[in-house]
Amino acid sequence: MAQHDAQIIAVVGATGLQGGAVTRRLLQDRWPVRALTRSPEGRKARAVAELGAEVVKADLSDPVSLERAFDGVHGVFSVQNHHISGYEEEARQGKQVAEVAKRVGVAQLVYSGAGPGVQGSGVGSWETKLKVAAHLRTLDLPVTILHPTAFMELMTEPKFFPPASVWHLMPKLMGSARPVGWLTVEDLAAIVAKAFGDPDRLIGREVILASDVQSIDACRAIWHEVTGRPPRRFPMPRLLFERFAGTDETTMWQWLGANEVEFDTRPTLAIHPEALTVRQWLEQKKAPV
Ligand SMILES: NC(=O)c1ccc[n+]([C@@H]2O[C@H](COP(=O)([O-])OP(=O)(O)OC[C@H]3O[C@@H](n4cnc5c(N)ncnc54)[C@H](OP(=O)(O)O)[C@@H]3O)[C@@H](O)[C@H]2O)c1
Repeated sequence: MAQHDAQIIAVVGATGLQGGAVTRRLLQDRWPVRALTRSPEGRKARAVAELGAEVVKADLSDPVSLERAFDGVHGVFSVQNHHISGYEEEARQGKQVAEVAKRVGVAQLVYSGAGPGVQGSGVGSWETKLKVAAHLRTLDLPVTILHPTAFMELMTEPKFFPPASVWHLMPKLMGSARPVGWLTVEDLAAIVAKAFGDPDRLIGREVILASDVQSIDACRAIWHEVTGRPPRRFPMPRLLFERFAGTDETTMWQWLGANEVEFDTRPTLAIHPEALTVRQWLEQKKAPV
């Protein structure tokens, strides 16, 4: 693939899960990447620099630092984390990233939100992202809005406490037979790269991303078939989980139990037909936690 000459993509959250995957994918596709972080000297930022990204210091709460970081870039990938900033600040940061991008003349922004796109769920992290998405649509800025559903990494990444969360409290609060939309972070990154690589197709689109729909019962059975044993479950009490993780996820799972959502994989697979199913993901992981 040809080098995308001088078409720098600024990646917000490049030291994190989504931004990290997006950075790796864009570099692989030969885009020059400018990676934003609050701590350029940190271990994660140095690892991003070693991959070939230009690492710059920026704080999403500070528009001057964003103006510097976006100077001369072609595109911006934007993601925020309410667990770090709180809901109100998440919304402010999400809007601010887009406003600064527009002001400095960025050609394209790809925003990563979350959830099934339902207004009024009361799930803080979904509501915030819908507010940001609505603001983006008012800005006259070429944007692609992606709403990934549950990441398959919830089953495999220790940082999400899978034994207590996805294998215990999620099915307990939501119902273990309830369908859930799933996507890997790598497939989100591949779709982000496609949005920058094929702007005519994806600018102006708002897509709920799911490449598979499976209940927790089904995921548990697939896990058992793939690894030869059931996933480890830890029956952590809800209040204890909330003390560590807050109430966003528990509110979300309860809402998903009380409300039927039709997750549709077709829009995602139309953009990225290679996106993995839960079975393919677990087969690839081979020995998950
Ligand atoms: N888990 C799921 O299934 C799922 C599904 C869909 C969507 N989501 C959404 O995913 C989002 C979190 O994304 P993630 O997992 O990629 O987060 P993450 O791994 O925690 O990464 C967050 C990144 O944001 C950067 N950051 C935080 N505050 C900043 C600030 N003030 N200025 C500049 N950079 C800042 C951090 O960089 P530095 O520390 O280096 O500055 C870090 O790299 C959440 O909003 C969640 O709702 C999650």
